[in-house]
Amino acid sequence: MLKKIKNDLNCLIGAIIILICRMPIKIIDHGSAQYQQMIALRMEILRKPLGLHFTDADLEKEKEDILIGAFEDDDMVACCILTKVAPDLCKLRQMAVHQKMQRNGIGHAIMQFAENVARDAGFKTMTMHARKTAEPFYEKLGYAPYGDEFIEVTIPHIEMRKKLI
Ligand SMILES: CC(C)(COP(=O)(O)OP(=O)(O)OC[C@H]1O[C@@H](n2cnc3c(N)ncnc32)[C@H](O)[C@@H]1OP(=O)(O)O)[C@@H](O)C(=O)NCCC(=O)NCCS
Repeated sequence: MLKKIKNDLNCLIGAIIILICRMPIKIIDHGSAQYQQMIALRMEILRKPLGLHFTDADLEKEKEDILIGAFEDDDMVACCILTKVAPDLCKLRQMAVHQKMQRNGIGHAIMQFAENVARDAGFKTMTMHARKTAEPFYEKLGYAPYGDEFIEVTIPHIEMRKKLI
């Protein structure tokens, strides 16, 4: 019961942030102009700083995923991706907020949206490979470490999970 109240409260906070910022968060189509914006944002925030890039095969696989973007006017300012791992397990990937917009509650808002989408799609648990630098951000959203630290895309990561239902 308490958990449900906490979840509802978090959803409300997310909705208020979206309303105040007048920042629509929505599911976008693979291959669309918005998807091109998403790739550019992910390159800028996640890949370029590590000297990495996406392959065509990486992007092709995303046809199966749920792609989420937050917009200011028509510009994508944050994004994330949901990938089905098992019938009840969903993986959050490619979470990125535009450099100039970080620490303004946008990451929190897009996570609330993504969790609601995952719940509606019938997933019971969310997992992710979190960068160690982002671990406190996910902890604040109720995620807990799951297993040991490991290296991915050249930097330390930790798997984190949260029960959605
Ligand atoms: C990590 C990231 C997604 C967080 O999004 P954001 O919009 O900056 O975060 P928010 O403003 O919604 O922060 C929500 C809370 O988490 C905290 N927080 C956010 N990022 C944090 C960090 N790196 N370390 C510690 N706390 C953090 C905020 O201070 C805020 O706390 P509060 O509720 O007590 O005020 C964003 O900063 C980002 O894109 N970083 C670079 C790429 C990255 O690391 N992506 C994650 C890959 S796993």
